[in-house]
Amino acid sequence: MNDGDGSPRSILLGATPDAWVRAAADRWRELLNDHAQCEKKAASTALALMFTYPEDRRLAAALSRLAREELRHFEQVQRLMMTLEVPFERQRPGRYASGLRAKLRTADPGRKLDLLLTGALIEARSCERFGLLAPRLPAEVGGFYAQLARSEARHFEEYLDLAREAAPQWQGRLRELAEHEAELATASDGQLRFHSGPPQE
Ligand SMILES: [Fe+2]
Ligand SMILES: [Fe+2]
Repeated sequence: MNDGDGSPRSILLGATPDAWVRAAADRWRELLNDHAQCEKKAASTALALMFTYPEDRRLAAALSRLAREELRHFEQVQRLMMTLEVPFERQRPGRYASGLRAKLRTADPGRKLDLLLTGALIEARSCERFGLLAPRLPAEVGGFYAQLARSEARHFEEYLDLAREAAPQWQGRLRELAEHEAELATASDGQLRFHSGPPQE
């Protein structure tokens, strides 16, 4: 972890493997299905945090904005799928979100920090992957992904700021959660998803 530069990539403990990038660049149309779900899930995660900590006005203001932006991303992906005639497919969720959830502490004050740090890690991974895919996709989609990489970088900063404010000892816990996140994102995976490891097939 490079604590020095504060960029989204600096908190990730493992870079996305080339094998994932090759598979995702090859199968980007099919991956739009999962991408759309991720944007929707990002909005609902932000809303859930607002309901869990209603007394935290600073959190509510930041995450309300963030949730609106994620829903706009969802609308953009859905429009793109319709334009490109990519069919909607119901998919089994990947292991990433459930794997991250399994590490969250169940009681506060630890739970709030874990939720915020996990949010920061997901945004950082999304930012990294949009950035990796952008130059490898057709211009129309690549430009959209480059724009999403910038949004997710802002969301990463937002979650990390909230985490720093929630607990002075955030760095040690970030390292533990980041190790677990890197394992989920880089180990060989049974399926290709936006946040999966490289697919086995
Ligand atoms: Fe997004
Ligand atoms: Fe985001």
